[in-house]
Amino acid sequence: MTDKKVTRIGVLTSGGDAPGMNAAVRAVVRTGIYHGLEVYAVMRGYQGMIENDIVKMESRSVANIIQRGGTILKTARSKEFFTPEGRKKAYENLKSHGINGLIVVGGDGSFNGALKFSEEFDIPCIGLPGTIDKDIAGSDFTIGFDTAVNTAIDAIDKIRDTADAHDRLFIIEVMGRDAGYIALHSGVATGAEHVLIPEHKTDIDEVINSLQEKEKRKKLMNLIVVAEGDEFGGGEQVTKYIKEKLPNADIKITVLGHIQRGGSPTCADRILASRMGYHAVLCLMEGRNNVMVGIVNDQMHYTPLSKAVKAKQQIDEDWFDMIKILAS
Ligand code: F6P
Repeated sequence: MTDKKVTRIGVLTSGGDAPGMNAAVRAVVRTGIYHGLEVYAVMRGYQGMIENDIVKMESRSVANIIQRGGTILKTARSKEFFTPEGRKKAYENLKSHGINGLIVVGGDGSFNGALKFSEEFDIPCIGLPGTIDKDIAGSDFTIGFDTAVNTAIDAIDKIRDTADAHDRLFIIEVMGRDAGYIALHSGVATGAEHVLIPEHKTDIDEVINSLQEKEKRKKLMNLIVVAEGDEFGGGEQVTKYIKEKLPNADIKITVLGHIQRGGSPTCADRILASRMGYHAVLCLMEGRNNVMVGIVNDQMHYTPLSKAVKAKQQIDEDWFDMIKILAS
């Protein structure tokens, strides 16, 4: 906690963009202005902080963006910010604008940056979890996850149509970096036969046996959703292995890729982002520092950035029992 009053705040989006980031920025700008603060947009994440790409925002600056994917503030992964010299330059630029509070919308890499920065300098930082990966502790959901999963579901449903028409096995790789939540949720929601994620060890030969058993009873249409970070190295590797073991099977692979990052945010993401953005400003006004704003069981929840960056959410094993039973 700090007893210094914030008067001018900065907001930035950093790391991979996530649908709903614009809704969060809108909430920050309008809540700040409502409470008599001046709000500045720091463009292109930490890189814009280093390059002094900082713009004053008005209420109308964030008109007509709640429904838009991407981020009007642009984003970047700044290597320079991870050097002491880069952070010093960034601090001096914020100071030159009189900015005395910062809100960072991003993933764990962005929180690492915010943590270092606020430990070194007298500018309190509040984090908002903005990542499609949902790999951050301290919030049930992250901004962008719901939209990404719905995009994946939409694509996998389409794949199911053609898989069914041809009686094919489809392997679909989804994003998530080293987290498997997009795969897990989209796999269950599309009725996939198997879901391979890094948080759960897969017995690949058991997958092969189950496909062989299904083949015997003429169930040839199967969907396997693979997280890009799974233990086998993603969809291509899994496809290669299965093709070797089942040379006669008709197997195709689709890598969904960056379509999962774009598009208009879902209702859930717009609401999550609006609530988090609104509360982030209140946090700064209350003198909080170095915390991430999350929502747990529908209640606002504040986690020290040091814990939000490190911890991962746990995945209950019974998800996999369920997948097996529902796909039988
Ligand atoms: O962290 C979000 C994410 O989309 C991951 O799911 C993915 O691994 C990564 O970013 C891709 O990053 P880039 O857009 O830099 O290739």
